[in-house]
Amino acid sequence: MTDPRKILVTSALPYANGPIHLGHLVEYIQTDIWVRFQKMRGHQCHYVCADDTHGTPIMLRAEKEGISAEDLIARVHGEHYRDFQGFHVEFDNYYTTHSEETRTYAATIYQRLQERGLIESRAIEQYYDPVKEMFLPDRFIKGECPKCHAKDQYGDSCEVCGTTYTPTDLINPYSAVSGAAPVRKESVHYFFKLSDPICQQFLRKWTTGQLTERPPLQPEAANKMQEWLGAEGENRLSDWDISRDAPYFGFEIPDAPGKYFYVWLDAPVGYMGSFQNLCNKKPLPPTPLPSGERGFSLPSPASGRGVGGEGYLNFNDFWSKDSKTELYHFIGKDILYFHALFWPAMLEHSDFRTPTNIFAHGFLTVNGEKMSKSRGTFITAESYLKQGLNPEWLRYYYACKLNGSMEDLDLNLEDFVARVNSDLVGKYINIASRTAGFVTKHFGGRLLGVEIGVGGLEEGLDPLVDALRNAREEIAEFYAARDYGKALRKIMELADQVNFYVNEKKPWELAKKPDAIGQLHIVCSITLNLFRQLTIYLKPILPKLTVEVEQFLNIKPLLWSDLHSTLPESHQINPYQHLMTRIEAKQIEALVEANKPNLQATEQPEPHSEQRHAEHQQHAIQPIADTIGIEEFAKIDLRIARIVKAEHVEKADKLLKLTLDIGEAQPRTVFAGIKSAYDPAQLEGKLTVMVANLAPRKMKFGLSEGMVLAASDERGGPFVLFPDQGAQPGMRIK
Ligand code: 2FM
Ligand code: ZN
Repeated sequence: MTDPRKILVTSALPYANGPIHLGHLVEYIQTDIWVRFQKMRGHQCHYVCADDTHGTPIMLRAEKEGISAEDLIARVHGEHYRDFQGFHVEFDNYYTTHSEETRTYAATIYQRLQERGLIESRAIEQYYDPVKEMFLPDRFIKGECPKCHAKDQYGDSCEVCGTTYTPTDLINPYSAVSGAAPVRKESVHYFFKLSDPICQQFLRKWTTGQLTERPPLQPEAANKMQEWLGAEGENRLSDWDISRDAPYFGFEIPDAPGKYFYVWLDAPVGYMGSFQNLCNKKPLPPTPLPSGERGFSLPSPASGRGVGGEGYLNFNDFWSKDSKTELYHFIGKDILYFHALFWPAMLEHSDFRTPTNIFAHGFLTVNGEKMSKSRGTFITAESYLKQGLNPEWLRYYYACKLNGSMEDLDLNLEDFVARVNSDLVGKYINIASRTAGFVTKHFGGRLLGVEIGVGGLEEGLDPLVDALRNAREEIAEFYAARDYGKALRKIMELADQVNFYVNEKKPWELAKKPDAIGQLHIVCSITLNLFRQLTIYLKPILPKLTVEVEQFLNIKPLLWSDLHSTLPESHQINPYQHLMTRIEAKQIEALVEANKPNLQATEQPEPHSEQRHAEHQQHAIQPIADTIGIEEFAKIDLRIARIVKAEHVEKADKLLKLTLDIGEAQPRTVFAGIKSAYDPAQLEGKLTVMVANLAPRKMKFGLSEGMVLAASDERGGPFVLFPDQGAQPGMRIK
């Protein structure tokens, strides 16, 4: 890897159909801290993002508001950008997927996949609104809950009893758009053949790090991949439906009039579109590509070709297959499937580079629970800022809680107040506020030159100075690993030591003794130098506060390399102005109150983090298999079996070994792929259903003499079948 590194970083593109809330901000703040850290280290790092603007929900919302979809997404773009800026999330480019750049790359990828035989079209049946003449996403079909009979529930789940189902299960379903009863209608859809052996083979290697210098996934994500991909030889991946029918707000598929790319085909492509747009702002001299290299040309002036120089950015440098640069996607764990399977497979087979790493994080909970509108914990970014709360309080708190894993992060509102007040203000800010005033008052704002680390200035000081300087690699490693919690624990430990030094030296007492004035100058100069060091460590998390500290200390923007130096002799600082106030509990109460729904609450609630995709989801009605005669069915010998024993199989990720009694002299052994859903102990003694005349299959772990029956689809499973009471081992099922 070259130094300085060339790094491209993205955060997930927020949908343009809702406001930014504190759940979103976990990701953008996490990414922004990482990018700021890389930039401080002197690397070339670009952070791009965009609004994800396409889809039926956006089209329908615009219609409802009586404006064009273009006007709606332009307005939302402004709101999103304003909120990100408000939290000091500094993108190098914040763009939109509704752009020529994204359209071009989406078409390029699609065409290349098609050339490889990885696009297929076939007819599927879906729900259709005959009045509005459009296919309906599940969320736009409503009706009575089949379980608790609550009226007006969405087609995917009941908000009253929490049951999940498909739109067919609803009693008296109706279209939320027109009120008409939905009908089934067939239409041709386009699929990306993720199930194709070339995709599976590639993904097995890529997800396990066999194709890259370092593994591209966190260990927990890599495990999830094993589950999704299944064992070698298994084919668990389904083809991905990438098209939607008109009317739709999006990009029409080049060779398929009336068909549009579904959001997941153009949303990640928006990363490329946004980066291309950034390149366009730093245009390149038109230099031809080296012969044989496959380039990507956009309509002039958006050319991504050429060699990069200073101030120039080259699209191909970052996205061509042989790119030597690094690409990182920060995402929520809910979109891991798209980013770790679908997206790399798409890139690989359309001759682009694949991500260096995908950094997935967990969801936000507030006070230990899912964000909730009625509790006032579904807090929008806008309301937080409008209430006058300091965005850096939240940045600091999130950083304390982030550890680079996929665990959920809890914003405990009491703890939030306590930590910000006691650590950030009480420890760090306190250091400056306890000493700065003396420098202005007694020494005309001038500091003594403090040769930190050279030693000898003050007896007993060297260990403190050393502790601060020596922590730099450790803290840098924590930042690089996105373990900001550990970085902050270390930084606050150092702040404690500095405070301890100030407590011991008691500058306020030295200031009262005329003969100790020289000593006061030394103590304050040392303390403010140490404060400067701590500020460098905190800068990625607290960028605005750092600018104020830089003004107060009268210094240039701090870099990581400034840890090696101290302020020069006689350095002049500016008068100290209070840098940060404490949070008052009543400010938080007001924030929660402001986020409780008022009486005119919108009829459609804002989606929760894991529901946000649901709005776009459109259920394909699973076609029933070809008709067979009773004779054919009779060929399958289904028997009631008692699970005598259920055991884990060493080295098998998916399988449980079942010993089944079907009334024969010897019990049978069956290996069943149900480990993800069942504990062996929970199965022993139960009755189930098995196919008794399936040809025995030799597996890696032994001979499997049949099969147990279980149900599953994208909603979950496997769910093993258990017969009603009274059934006995060996009974035939007919
Ligand atoms: O999850 C989401 O919010 C989607 N808008 C996808 C964003 S990530 C990327 F692929 F665009
Ligand atoms: Zn219900």
